[in-house]
Amino acid sequence: ALVSGASMAQGTYPDRTITLVVPYAAGGPTDTVARLVAEPMAKALGQQVIIENMGGASGTIGAGQVARAEPDGYTLMLHTSAQATNDLFYDKLAYGSREAFQPLGVVSHTPMTLVGRKDLPPGTAAEALDHIRESGDGVAFGNAGVGGPSYLCGLLIENRLGTPMVMVPYAGTGPALTDLLGGQIDLICEQATNTIGHIRSGAVKAYAVTSAERMPALPDLPTLAEVGLEGFETTVWLGLYGPRDMPQPVVDKVVAALQSALQDPLVTERFAELATTPAAPDEATPEGLKATQEAEVAKWKDLIEASGLKAD
Ligand code: MLT
Repeated sequence: ALVSGASMAQGTYPDRTITLVVPYAAGGPTDTVARLVAEPMAKALGQQVIIENMGGASGTIGAGQVARAEPDGYTLMLHTSAQATNDLFYDKLAYGSREAFQPLGVVSHTPMTLVGRKDLPPGTAAEALDHIRESGDGVAFGNAGVGGPSYLCGLLIENRLGTPMVMVPYAGTGPALTDLLGGQIDLICEQATNTIGHIRSGAVKAYAVTSAERMPALPDLPTLAEVGLEGFETTVWLGLYGPRDMPQPVVDKVVAALQSALQDPLVTERFAELATTPAAPDEATPEGLKATQEAEVAKWKDLIEASGLKAD
């Protein structure tokens, strides 16, 4: 029988290096998680997995590249819950986040923390909110660009307090945190993955967590809901994607590699140190990621549309 090139290729997948695109700058939480899972995934797949950072505009630049890549399993992407919210902010996205990709699985969940530069005057979360209320136009709030969780968190705070801040976009929250540590900006909402070490060492001022519950790893930090922003809740998930139309056998191999990576003690131990929760086995599947993304769209759609806010 004739064996087509495509099916032969699927049988030998992977026979060369796989690129995992991180649509954010190096040093951010997505980059950190990508580097942690790439190693055991590479082991499971028997090929190298290299990280390529393509930051900017809430991950839409990198995601646009991946949407146009060959769906052969050699280009994958780790994105955030921005995959659900970017479409609501950008009218001119060159791709649809729900149509252009093959979801492969949820990778992790993490709460965000509201942190300030070390010498920002407010000492508590309530004082930080007062400070924004009184002088939001003097507060430089770093984020990864209009659309994603680090931006959405700031937007929600602005909406609830009725005071705009100065939104400062970066190619990812990694460089935003670097500038916060350097005192160039005042505040960020950043995934605990990236802030927990700096919170513990006192390099940043931690004000609050943005999840509905306090974080077990930082039990003294109040939720924003506790200090007056009733119902405030943002947490972030990271998901593994490829371009749409990936052959099923390739999808299956990547998902199996993800599943085994999430059980690797090197990953689970490091995630625990970084207050990051690995996805449950049934979430770390194409159906799991699709459902998670749809639920996230439903959660924000009305609020974002009603805000009338758009990216350029
Ligand atoms: C990043 O990796 O830079 C962040 O995940 C971006 C974000 O939280 O918006």
